[in-house]
Amino acid sequence: MPEAYERHLVPVFFRPFADDLADRAAGLRPRRVLELAAGTGAFTSALLDAVPGVSVVASDLNEAMVVAGAAREPRAEWRQADAQELPFEDGGFDLVVCQFGVMFFPDRPAAYAEVRRVLAPGGRFLFSSWGSLASHGFGAAFQDALEQVMGTETPTFLKDVPHGYADPEAVAADLAAGGMELAAAEEVTLEGTADSAASVAIGFLTGTPVSAAVQGREDAQAIQDAVMRGMTDRLGGGAVTASMSATIYSAYRRNAVGRGA
Ligand SMILES: C[S@@+](CC[C@H](N)C(=O)[O-])C[C@H]1O[C@@H](n2cnc3c(N)ncnc32)[C@H](O)[C@@H]1O
Repeated sequence: MPEAYERHLVPVFFRPFADDLADRAAGLRPRRVLELAAGTGAFTSALLDAVPGVSVVASDLNEAMVVAGAAREPRAEWRQADAQELPFEDGGFDLVVCQFGVMFFPDRPAAYAEVRRVLAPGGRFLFSSWGSLASHGFGAAFQDALEQVMGTETPTFLKDVPHGYADPEAVAADLAAGGMELAAAEEVTLEGTADSAASVAIGFLTGTPVSAAVQGREDAQAIQDAVMRGMTDRLGGGAVTASMSATIYSAYRRNAVGRGA
């Protein structure tokens, strides 16, 4: 999965937002950064390029992602870690960052409490979460094409998980439950460009958990062929561009009387 994710999805979906988030992070002049859910390191590399001399610990729950990330971006220190139970000491980082990872944490207040614990006083937490599936040109076209083939058996993963945490009020409430205060939430829309719609279809079908619902089936190849055709019909042949929306959040530690610390 890390290879398919890195090849088909990272350049199209994650790199444009990584560059944007790295610029925001650089403005905070961080010295010691912890990255959560770092995947194969798209943001890690953008941050290391944007902030000369910064020290970055890149972590992810999935050992295969950590191995792929460490091979691709050796300038960071890589650690396997569950964001809800971080193996780091209190107050060791002045910035914690997480690009498109929080939607996957089953207990987000627990993860935010861990962020609070490992942040030094005055530290910041910067993270991003996708907007609704309808606001992601590639995701919406993929889901539509998949529904045409799989009908009622269509996996709802994309709608429920990566695009299921799009309400800033819900995010603010989870942050508060974890002892963090929301400082800003900004909706950002960027464009992604892929070599072809078919390549994005393969990325979704082999580089995300959607693969678990499709790859074991006898008709997996027929589904893949139909989704590749369906996405090409919707987005066009050759190189394709679509817009993608996300919210970028900034938060800080709440102290006992509710002010930033
Ligand atoms: C969509 S990927 C984003 C990866 C990377 N941040 C990027 O922008 O390319 C989500 C990542 O969250 C990780 N993840 C899921 N649950 C996690 C958890 N509880 N703790 C840490 N990482 C987790 C997955 O292994 C996956 O690498």
